[in-house]
Order: sequence, then structure tokens, then C-alpha cells
Amino acid sequence: MQRRAALALALLATPFALQAAEPVKIGFLVKQAEEPWFQDEWRFAEQAAKDKGFTLVKIGIPNGEKMMAAIDNLAAQKAVGFVICAPDVKLGVAVNRAAKRHKLKVMSVDDQLVDGAGKPIADIPHMGISGYEIGKQVGQGLLAEIKARGWKLDEVGVLRVAFDQLPTARDRTMGAVDALKAAGVPVANIVDAPQAKTDTESAFNAANIAFTKNAKFKRWVAFGLNDEAALGAVRAAEGRGIKQDAMMAIGIGGSQTALNEFTKPTPTAFYGTVLISPKRHGYETATAVYEWATQGKQPPAVTLTSGILMTRQNQAEIRKQMGL
Ligand code: GLA
Repeated sequence: MQRRAALALALLATPFALQAAEPVKIGFLVKQAEEPWFQDEWRFAEQAAKDKGFTLVKIGIPNGEKMMAAIDNLAAQKAVGFVICAPDVKLGVAVNRAAKRHKLKVMSVDDQLVDGAGKPIADIPHMGISGYEIGKQVGQGLLAEIKARGWKLDEVGVLRVAFDQLPTARDRTMGAVDALKAAGVPVANIVDAPQAKTDTESAFNAANIAFTKNAKFKRWVAFGLNDEAALGAVRAAEGRGIKQDAMMAIGIGGSQTALNEFTKPTPTAFYGTVLISPKRHGYETATAVYEWATQGKQPPAVTLTSGILMTRQNQAEIRKQMGL
């Protein structure tokens, strides 16, 4: 009799026990889920989820509407917080409001959210790259190779694939411009090619127009906010018969977009990339939001990560150094 009562009690208790053991949910929302960089970030965030014992909810948010729906969806699933790279940084106030309304912890990754006046939102912790410094590394990498090839600085066209509405994109590309200018590249040689989106196709279209308008330059260097931007410029140049002997581009990222170029049997004008860390961005942000929501550990306000120049030659070694 006693045994049976104990059993009944145990059975009654089961649903509660299951509920209590339900894992904590953390969202990871990214603006361009198809981009290798974001795939890598998700992969490392999944790793964190496995190590720490939470569930990661990954959602692609290509526009503001999908973003708002994703945040509501997370709340409905009883998530406790999320990491976000928004489709437009000006959605910052909306993100902050939605997070507060649902009592979700929020941290931004890659693109820092801003308010109506364009000022970073102070109460959303952020992890991004040190854009201007990394841009300078791009410029310095190009300069070293210009020198190695014996090109004259005043005969080289400089193509900046621009996406100036995103502050980190502007910082990155202006860092490269400033490094080139400081070394003596004439300001008149710098050509802006504004892209409509941050993918290869948009960069290709932007670069094509710029090359057409500036046919006087026979040699070119190019860069943009990421590998896709640099690659778009490389493909556009190829289309006009400008190959790797007359052109070189350095990207930022170092994920599959860049690796695919490096493994082609014949080198293309995609000369290199500044490798940044999807591991830190994915693993550390997901962990930070988890610890914030479950242990009250507030993440640092801003964390900026660094990069290393990687080329076809040193890719294996550099990737190993970065733990990739
Ligand atoms: C931005 C870019 C991405 C990637 C990240 C890295 O979000 O759009 O391609 O470069 O920054 O922080």
C-alpha cells in the first residue's frame, strides 16, 4: 500500500519534473542567414548551447517585419533572451522596446544598434569587430602587394565598395582608404561604388558601374565591408577583362566565400581577406546572453574583436591560429 502511494506520488510529480528540466532557450537572429559568416556564427553558437546546456533558436530576419515576428515568436516559446544582427541598425529602438516588453535579454552582434539620432543604444551590449583598425589592415595589405608588384601609387584605381548606412561598413572601408591615402595614393584615384545590399550580387553591380565610369585606370585595388563585397568587385573586373595581374582585392571575414576563392586552381584577383572570428562572435555572445538571463551576469557594454590578414599562401596556418 505504502509502495503504491509512493509510486502514485512519483507519477504525479513527473510532469513538474519534466517542466523544470526543460532547457533554457536563447535566440540567435541574423540578417543574412545565407551568408557563410552568419552560418559560422550559428555553428559556434550551437557549440556554446551544447557546452552550457541551453537550446539555441536560430531565425533569419531579412527585414524589419520578420525581425519583429521573430522576437514575438521567441517570447511565445518562452525564450529568455537573444543575440541579434538586425537587417537595419536603425531598428534599434524597436528591438529594445520589444525585448523589454517581453522581458528578454538582448545583445547585438556585428552591427551595433542605434537610436533615432544614430547614437549606439547604450543598454544593449554589443560585440563587433574593430572596423576602422581592420580596414587599415586591408589597406596595408594592399599597399604591401602594390609595392611587391612594383605598381606606381598614382596609377592605381582604388575601388571602395560602399555601404555607408551601416556604421561598421563605413568604418571598415574608411580605414582602408585612410591607410592608402597616408601612403600617398592620390585622393582623385579613390572611386566609391555604393552597393544596395551587402551581398556579392549588389557589390558586382556597383563595381560594374564604377569600372565603366573610370576606364582610365588600368590597375585596380578593391575592398568593401566583407568578403562578398570584395568578391563582387573581383567578378565585375573579370567581366571587363581585368584579371589578377591588374587587380587585387582584400575582403573581411575569412569564411567559405574567401576559402572557395583560395582553393581555385588558378589564383583570382581575390588576393586575401582579414580573417575575423565567427567563433568568438557566435560562441561568446550566445554564452553571454545565457549567463545574463540565468545568472544575472551583465555582459560588457562593448567588445571589439580583431583580425589577421590571410592570403592563399598562409590560410591554413592563420585559420589554425584563430582556432578555426
Ligand atoms: C556585418 C557584415 C557581415 C560580417 C559581419 C562581421 O554584419 O554584413 O558580412 O562582415 O559584419 O562582424
